[in-house]
Amino acid sequence: MVSESSSIGRPEHPNIEQALSSFSLLRDYFQGALIVDHESRITWIDPRYRKLLGMPADFACYGLPVEQVIPHSLMRRVVETGRPILVDIMEFDERQFVVCRIPLKDDNGAVDGAVGFVFYDRVDFLAPMLEKFELLHKQLDRAQAALTRERAAKYSLSSFVGTSEVVGQLKAQVRRFALRDGAALLSGETGTGKELLAHAIHQQSDRADGPFVAVNMAAVPEALLEAEFFGVAPGAFTGADRKARKGKFELAHGGTLFLDEIGDMPIGIQAKLLRVLQEGEIEALGSNAVKKVDVRIIAATSQDLVARIEDKSFRADLYYRIAVLTIAIPPLRKRLEDIPVLCDALLEKTPRASDQRGWVIEPAAVQLLQQHDWPGNVRELANVLERAAAMAPRDIIGADLIRLALPARGGTAPGGIGGPADLASRLAEAERRAILDALDASGGQKLLAAQRLGISRSQFYEKLRRHDITA
Ligand SMILES: Nc1ncnc2c1ncn2[C@@H]1O[C@H](COP(=O)(O)OP(=O)(O)OP(=O)(O)O)[C@@H](O)[C@H]1O
Ligand SMILES: [Mg+2]
Repeated sequence: MVSESSSIGRPEHPNIEQALSSFSLLRDYFQGALIVDHESRITWIDPRYRKLLGMPADFACYGLPVEQVIPHSLMRRVVETGRPILVDIMEFDERQFVVCRIPLKDDNGAVDGAVGFVFYDRVDFLAPMLEKFELLHKQLDRAQAALTRERAAKYSLSSFVGTSEVVGQLKAQVRRFALRDGAALLSGETGTGKELLAHAIHQQSDRADGPFVAVNMAAVPEALLEAEFFGVAPGAFTGADRKARKGKFELAHGGTLFLDEIGDMPIGIQAKLLRVLQEGEIEALGSNAVKKVDVRIIAATSQDLVARIEDKSFRADLYYRIAVLTIAIPPLRKRLEDIPVLCDALLEKTPRASDQRGWVIEPAAVQLLQQHDWPGNVRELANVLERAAAMAPRDIIGADLIRLALPARGGTAPGGIGGPADLASRLAEAERRAILDALDASGGQKLLAAQRLGISRSQFYEKLRRHDITA
């Protein structure tokens, strides 16, 4: 008897000789073959097929029902119907292979088994078909992903509300960009929706099924940024976590990495980021192994990066790497006609009592909102509406409530409605002044301003946000 791992197998199957003689002719064209008997039990398997299936060479598979070795095999169907499946595609480990299954017949023409051949995708004449299959596969995946997205619809482009011409152009531009895979830079004042758009671009792109990972340069202490980006090899720091930690780049593999407030990226990290973008490889801290990463960068800034380049706090070469596609989001005061639809959309999300049907905003109130200049943009509008709603006795928001909810001119803290200010609002006002002074004294550079005030960048940003200060 011939050993199981031999390419000849054991000739118990009556037609095996006949099948094997055809094999020698075809051997150069296929990369694996299998024979089953009339009960679809394996009677012979090519060693190359074993390897493909990850089956140990000494695994005794003869006599086993074929599905036990190849779970979705169609060999049984061929045996039962007596009809061949001449061309089919099978997936192993996410690779596609062309397979061909033919019934074997005895001298009386009765089916007494089947033979299957596996071809790799490098078989030239099959390549066009495989390509088509892969394309259809991708399209199907995309359609399914789009469907899921529609259902979730959390961050799609439709959540960026606005009917003005500038917003229309912006959305058209985002749709065009989404189809390309280059790095994108979103610029706009605070609260204009940069993060919202970054999500929307990701969701519209081919990477929608991949991860969306965000890093806020302003919120991560400088000393930790490198580890945050590139990860840490196991035991890289003595006494530190002995386990490896993945960096955001690796976590974003196959998807999008959103670099928020990129203007605040320390110059040392800028050089490292540039290298990663040029080489597509990362090196974890304390490791000397490099890993390939496939990541699309979307960066956002509320600062003028060109001015940062001029004062040498931002590298020009990094700027050109990330500003392949640029989108400037106009401030709300330049698109006041969006305010009515924005009010509707934002009020929709504003909490209301369970017995209320929905907020109604009166035209005079909307008009009043259109007279404000919105330094905090849509975020500020949302806050004002929320304040007005909180004060409203019913579900109607009129001009009087908006007047109370809008920050008083001259910079009084929101909510400080005339009269002698209480301690909290006086403190808030003093803090606001201190922040504005620090910003003035440091030429608008947030990092310097934070240092001047003796607080961290993240605390500083939090305060900017709380006071609706656009810097
Ligand atoms: N066009 C818009 N339609 C609906 N909601 C919006 C729009 N623009 C912004 N928002 C909302 O306003 C808030 C602020 O948006 P986002 O965080 O995206 O702004 P940002 O530009 O990243 O601000 P910052 O620079 O302060 O980080 C979010 O709650 C967002 O959902
Ligand atoms: Mg943001």
